[in-house]
Amino acid sequence: MTEIRFLLNGTPVSLTDAPPTHTLLDWLREDRALTGTKEGCNEGDCGACTVMVSDAADHRALNACLLFLPQLHGKSIRTVEGLAAPDGTLHPVQQAMIAHHGSQCGFCTPGVTMALACAHARGRTDHDDVLAGNLCRCTGYAPIIRAAEAAAATPLPAWLDADQQALSSFIVPEIRPEAAIDAPSVRATLATGDTPGYRPANSDDLADWYAANPGATLIAGATDVGLWVTKQLRDLGPVAFLAGVGDLRHVETRGKVIGIGACVTIEALRRALTGVHPSFAELLRRFASVQVREAATIGGNIANGSPIGDGPPALIALGTTLHLRQGDEMRSLPLEDFFLDYGRQDRRPGEFIAAVTIPAEAPGLRCYKLSKRFDQDISAVCGGFNLTLTDGRIAEARIAFGGMAGVPKRAAAVEAALIGQPWQEATIRAALPAFAEDFTPLSDMRASASYRLTTAGNMLLRYWHDLAGTPVQVLEVQP
Ligand SMILES: Cc1cc2nc3c(=O)[nH]c(=O)nc-3n(C[C@H](O)[C@H](O)[C@H](O)COP(=O)(O)OP(=O)(O)OC[C@H]3O[C@@H](n4cnc5c(N)ncnc54)[C@H](O)[C@@H]3O)c2cc1C
Ligand code: FES
Ligand code: FES
Repeated sequence: MTEIRFLLNGTPVSLTDAPPTHTLLDWLREDRALTGTKEGCNEGDCGACTVMVSDAADHRALNACLLFLPQLHGKSIRTVEGLAAPDGTLHPVQQAMIAHHGSQCGFCTPGVTMALACAHARGRTDHDDVLAGNLCRCTGYAPIIRAAEAAAATPLPAWLDADQQALSSFIVPEIRPEAAIDAPSVRATLATGDTPGYRPANSDDLADWYAANPGATLIAGATDVGLWVTKQLRDLGPVAFLAGVGDLRHVETRGKVIGIGACVTIEALRRALTGVHPSFAELLRRFASVQVREAATIGGNIANGSPIGDGPPALIALGTTLHLRQGDEMRSLPLEDFFLDYGRQDRRPGEFIAAVTIPAEAPGLRCYKLSKRFDQDISAVCGGFNLTLTDGRIAEARIAFGGMAGVPKRAAAVEAALIGQPWQEATIRAALPAFAEDFTPLSDMRASASYRLTTAGNMLLRYWHDLAGTPVQVLEVQP
């Protein structure tokens, strides 16, 4: 039996009997009576359960309701009870929340405070983005933002710094910076509870274990899988946690392509792509919330095969190659070929997503997300557009959509209608009827079929205006 070790509010914790799919939220509240971390939705939507999870390099705001205990191995966790100094000195964010009357109903306040404390530690001042995952229904955001602004200039409190020092030099070897977590000695079988778990140390280890346990569930960020447990009350059977697989967390430019490991989080990808594919990065800013993006991985976003995932349309438009591994065998395929049908992907038993490669340059790439809320909402329609123009004509076209079919899908007929044509508005308008050849969307609670078909066409028009330099982002458009 292997331990799960982490720091909780500065104190080392060692767990030997925790079921692998026990959430941090339940453990904090039920086993430790740390009830400051609230349960609102229990599905990642409200942020009431936000905690600070740190490693030697960084502090991240995560939702405790979507974190299984083995994901925390080697980390430091601060809950709202541990945000102040041991002598009671308040964290600058706590002080500012009081001074600016940012605390309202008390249920959301702990999560809001933890989200702001993590942003403060990272030096983030994009307070609207930081708070997108913390719901407050009493319209209290203005004083909260004022508190965040007031706290921004204050230094990181020494006691949080001490956590990171402890992680770097901790006497327990497993609690170390991420590089050390990749050491083979850290591979671990979590044979506790009803759900056997495994914590592979690297991708070779994962490949061996998964080939031998092809029916197991892989857990990367758990932002999908977490809900299978908390909402569907599913017993997952054998599980493997990818949190320690450090060699699947790379973002590397190699000549004309960028290789991205499957375990790169959406937030890390957003940061990495900001200067490279700015429209894709902007789309990822609207992917869920900071808390979800800091956990969710690009591998999980592809593997779940969702027809409304935000990653695949942009990635398909880019011309992404997917790299899969089964045992020692690697194979690669265009991403669009991975999605066979609703709920069915081209993935063999025991095979996992290792990485994707995308072009390092795609100046024509634009990504548009349509959802009912601007932040923290699943797409009704999500489009990726990538046209290459030569001598005023459309030489190449890659257009892909989420929300328009049972899988993320290329708009082949629209592309055919565009290729070879002059780059002008009349060409765009002439291609619009082809959307009905490509897609027969569904009506559901997010949008009707006709709305989806109309707005997909409108996105192509938007693309035309966008490349012409007209402001098309909601936040850019002035009345
Ligand atoms: C509140 C909330 C908001 C959300 N908003 C959005 C949104 O705006 N846009 C969006 O696209 N999604 C959204 N999601 C869905 C989710 O966050 C994403 O799909 C995420 O990318 C999943 O990644 P993960 O690492 O958490 O996957 P996990 O939950 O760990 O796994 C998901 C699936 O992928 C499999 N898997 C994971 N990694 C691999 C791998 N390397 N190889 C093979 N299989 C693997 C798992 O076995 C599982 O079947 C949201 C989720 C929540 C809870
Ligand atoms: S309880 Fe709502 S996000 Fe966790
Ligand atoms: S602080 Fe809880 S609803 Fe606003």
